[in-house]
Amino acid sequence: MTTPLPSTPIATTPARGVDLDPIWAAVVPESRARSNDIHLPVSLAFAERLCDAYPVADDLLVRVAILLHDTGWGRVDESRIISEGFSGDWRKAAIRFEHEKLGCEIAREVLPALGYDEKFVEEVATIIDGHDTRKEAKSLEDALMRDADRLWRFDHAGIALASGWFAMDPSSYCDRLEAEIVPELLTEAAMSMAKADLQRSRALLKTAVLR
Ligand SMILES: [Fe+2]
Ligand SMILES: [Fe+2]
Repeated sequence: MTTPLPSTPIATTPARGVDLDPIWAAVVPESRARSNDIHLPVSLAFAERLCDAYPVADDLLVRVAILLHDTGWGRVDESRIISEGFSGDWRKAAIRFEHEKLGCEIAREVLPALGYDEKFVEEVATIIDGHDTRKEAKSLEDALMRDADRLWRFDHAGIALASGWFAMDPSSYCDRLEAEIVPELLTEAAMSMAKADLQRSRALLKTAVLR
């Protein structure tokens, strides 16, 4: 007799397929900044789950945009990332705008050589530009990328890294996710993923006791 599989998808689903591997290979140096080599793959896995929930979205556009969106951190002055990009009014910090512009530049450098056409490249750049500093999403694809960029923090790997960036303990950071980040999510699917992952991460990290 076989045991039925649980109906809830596993939170840490790896990204599907290898079709984006040439893009990953092209941005290895940029992946080493600000733990992009954790943030970007985990966010891509969330983006793919969101695309599955909204099949009308342009799946490739969302996936390429999330893969590249923070590569610009790899070309800014690294010493300013934490001091300016993660403290005070960090959403309006000059370095935030810089990493968005540089991310667009990287997309325009890397994608044409890999066979992506100009229209697609500009659609990717439109999503990357302002992904942290613009208030509204311009399209469903933009909304899914923005939600995936937040969802990775609900995974325990995201909590481990981001709590350190904001100089918070994991328990306080989980409280912040619930109070501040869940209300920022744009889609129903992202809300339910965030709540499920936060519950799991809180249990795993013993945040009820380690306060
Ligand atoms: Fe960003
Ligand atoms: Fe990001």
